[in-house]
Amino acid sequence: MNERETLKINAKGHLEIGGADCVALAQEFGTPLYVFDEKYIRKMMSVYRDTLATYYDGKGMVLYASKAFSCKAIYRIADEENIGIDVVSGGELYTATQAGFPAQNICMHGNNKLDYELGEALDAGVGYIVADAYSEIDKIDAEAAKRGIVQKILLRINPGVEAHTHAFVQTATTDSKFGFSLQNGTAEAVTAYALTKKNVQLDGYHCHIGSQIFEKQSFVLAVEKCLDFAAEMQKKLGFTLKTLNMGGGFGVWYTDEDKKIPPEGYAEYLIALIEAVKAKTAEHKLPLPYLLLEPGRSIIGEAGITLYTVGAIKDIPGVRKYLAVDGGMFDNPRYALYQSKYTPILANRASEEPTEIVSIAGKCCESGDLIAVNVNLPKAESGDILAILSTGAYNYSMAMNYNRNKIPPCVLVKDGKGEYIVKPQTYEDIARNDVILERLSKKTK
Ligand code: LLP
Repeated sequence: MNERETLKINAKGHLEIGGADCVALAQEFGTPLYVFDEKYIRKMMSVYRDTLATYYDGKGMVLYASKAFSCKAIYRIADEENIGIDVVSGGELYTATQAGFPAQNICMHGNNKLDYELGEALDAGVGYIVADAYSEIDKIDAEAAKRGIVQKILLRINPGVEAHTHAFVQTATTDSKFGFSLQNGTAEAVTAYALTKKNVQLDGYHCHIGSQIFEKQSFVLAVEKCLDFAAEMQKKLGFTLKTLNMGGGFGVWYTDEDKKIPPEGYAEYLIALIEAVKAKTAEHKLPLPYLLLEPGRSIIGEAGITLYTVGAIKDIPGVRKYLAVDGGMFDNPRYALYQSKYTPILANRASEEPTEIVSIAGKCCESGDLIAVNVNLPKAESGDILAILSTGAYNYSMAMNYNRNKIPPCVLVKDGKGEYIVKPQTYEDIARNDVILERLSKKTK
């Protein structure tokens, strides 16, 4: 196992997260269960926050990309750690404001924000809205005028950087539903357009080059392209860049095919990016912009694990052995979507050596409902507790009620003790909005 600060094997041979025994957590809260280590989350937030403050004279803000894991408690933690957040929907904005998150530290994204979402963002008083369409600029301008305010916006630009990642999570190549391309003049045209609006204040640019990226050079290249473009806009349109938001995308460890970076190691990504900002602004004689960064996965991904109970075991001789668990694609759709790889551990026998290759299947009525394929484990039996590591990001946030399965609850562990931050769903929750029309008679035989 990849021993880390957050995960350990205790004297009983059980896996521990944040000092809590996973077998005891499974007994107390049941399975399937998402578990998060609060210390790791805070550590990651503070590494980003402090690196920016130290190397960039405090001129900027780290925004936790809350699409990675959104619930009221995480917004409280982000606020306590003095970082901002990004939200991509009215639902995330609502959750954050319900938790009392200060709206001025919120940046709102989305490639097609709905009218009511823009209205909600303006009413809440979010710090920035990232506009990604002409129609959005028009709407923000009109709605801001109605409210007698001027809204700060950034424009989402697309620097055309190819980052090494899965195609579905790549967002800054020319063929993308996100952003205005730097290559074909559309970014320039939309800059000129935004500058004509009275109730929007164009503050700068935003880009996000993709996810699960380990190469620093990809971020450096993106910074260079954005600032070359900003310099061009300064010359052509007299527009001075005030804010630059470089998005997120820093990679995390899922399996030993990935780099294992300790929390402090992520500072290097920021430092490389900051150095590039300093060098390029100096080259173009531009003022240093206010710098925003939006890490999501790297803050929450390795902080989380999912606990399951092994149920049915199917050994197909010469083909494959399936261990079915009490969760599946409804709590983690990432294998089904991206063939993502994960590392499993038998939490109740964590010090045993692996002896066989198995595949972990979920309980949904779908052959592709798999969590991990061809992974090494000790011989598992029904009733064993299986932990899947690095599930903190984009698992709970992408969970669903397929087959009307209950989305598992989330527990936050601090000093060895777990507490619910998202309570268990009930069948009543799942069926709450169902309507039986009166004309649909109940047949009583
Ligand atoms: N900022 C923007 C504008 C983004 O679109 C994203 C991610 C982030 C920040 C955060 O990126 P991170 O640091 O988490 O890589 N569902 C996919 C991930 C989609 C990410 C979309 N945008 C997955 O499960 O891998």
